[in-house]
Amino acid sequence: MKLVFATNNMHKLEELQAIIGDRFDLLSLQEIGCNEEIPEEQPTLEGNARQKAFYIFTKYGYPCFADDTGLEIEALNGEPGVFSARYAGPVKNSDDNMKKVLELLAKIKNRNARFRTVISLVINGEERQFEGIVVGEIINGKKGQSGFGYDPIFQPSEFDKTFAEMALKDKNKISHRGRAVQKLVQYLKMLELNND
Ligand code: IMP
Repeated sequence: MKLVFATNNMHKLEELQAIIGDRFDLLSLQEIGCNEEIPEEQPTLEGNARQKAFYIFTKYGYPCFADDTGLEIEALNGEPGVFSARYAGPVKNSDDNMKKVLELLAKIKNRNARFRTVISLVINGEERQFEGIVVGEIINGKKGQSGFGYDPIFQPSEFDKTFAEMALKDKNKISHRGRAVQKLVQYLKMLELNND
């Protein structure tokens, strides 16, 4: 089955193709001739993932899935959440975003936070969503060089390293995206078995 992953991030696409295996042929947006920006205007991760997946299904007719992720900080009422990429302003800049978070939390004891990913899968016009969560805390300053986004200030519970101090394969085992993807893959494998 051909399945479009509505992302422009080639790393995410390659990573998923390796997990999903060759019974599902993952297509990039480029491969289906989609070069436009996909609208992402909803107030929730669920809404954005759904909007992106349905946009591709409706316009291009392919089965499709899309993801959306946010960092949700308890003391900030769930912010930056759906605004994670552009928390400090319209230009997506991770250093500025982390600086803003650290400043807002400077005098706050409650450092609880979680990353949450929602994947929306649309096949034949029917949607299914998969959620992945990792809980942890925002530390006082940046630690580690790997990863991206908020990784240097997020330390998952029961670990003494930030995401930016972990090897990618270790992060993927426990991460929000890793967990949502595992649920998606389980579901796709079930579909595959039912079609045999
Ligand atoms: P996206 O929905 O995957 O594009 O994620 C939105 C934003 O959330 C990104 O621009 C990052 O700032 C942040 N983010 C998503 N996943 C991660 C992660 O694994 N580590 C750190 N930050 C992340």
